[in-house]
Amino acid sequence: MASAGESRFRFVHLTDTHIMAGARWRPRSADFEFDTEASLRRVVDAVRSLDPAPEFAVLGGDLASPDLVDRDRSLTPEEYEPSYRLLREILTGLPCPAHFLVGNHDNRVAFHRVLNTAPASPDAPHYYSFDHHAHHFVVLDSQEPGQAGGLLDAAQLGWLRRDLGAHRDRPTIVFVHHHPWALGLQWIDTMMVKNGEELTAALDEHPQVRWVICGHVHLDQAIQRGGLTVLTTPSTCVQLSKTSQAGKALPGPPAFRVVDVSGARLSTRVLHLHPDAAAL
Ligand SMILES: [Fe+2]
Ligand SMILES: [Fe+2]
Repeated sequence: MASAGESRFRFVHLTDTHIMAGARWRPRSADFEFDTEASLRRVVDAVRSLDPAPEFAVLGGDLASPDLVDRDRSLTPEEYEPSYRLLREILTGLPCPAHFLVGNHDNRVAFHRVLNTAPASPDAPHYYSFDHHAHHFVVLDSQEPGQAGGLLDAAQLGWLRRDLGAHRDRPTIVFVHHHPWALGLQWIDTMMVKNGEELTAALDEHPQVRWVICGHVHLDQAIQRGGLTVLTTPSTCVQLSKTSQAGKALPGPPAFRVVDVSGARLSTRVLHLHPDAAAL
């Protein structure tokens, strides 16, 4: 195995793509509509232009959201599938492989069917880990079906502890859709991982974990506590105000996170694609 000191690579975190095939997003509290397909295509083009190129992408959940078009009932997997197929088609433009997370708006059955994830059962939670060079990456599934907030059940937390225990020698980055710690913004903080403290306790037992990267909140923030830092990445489409306690939606700009790993050092930035930006 290569030592962490030799590892040098880039990855990107794209999140909250909210693809709704054939429709535009009209946030409840806003007076605009937004083309989430067009904004993800812009983000994919921007990722393709990066130098050096990323070695992989992580898609942070809330990938498909036809439920935002038809809010008064629960949609079937068949009604979700066209949105996942469109997502899959758009992501063929990425210059690297992609890893996927489940968010609160996702439908696990359609997610598994279209993205070919080989689940243990049709609606199984999608948590797993992978190695890249000398680093270890953990992907959690914080969806609590039917809820806007998240939850990690005992089975998943047990798996997490075992997985981290088996990779103590590798610097580790954890991905989870919902944020485990309050941002200080009332509306979005009602929709955290409910048992974020249990997650934090599990991570604190494993000092090789120093970074947790989340989506869900549609804004960029960093929060550090002890040896752990939580980063949130803005959406590839609609953003949330960083100052409104009521969760005011904003029409973009599309954004994503670039992470450069160099041994045990991690450096990261969020790229915002402003309408008049000729180049990044
Ligand atoms: Fe979202
Ligand atoms: Fe979410």
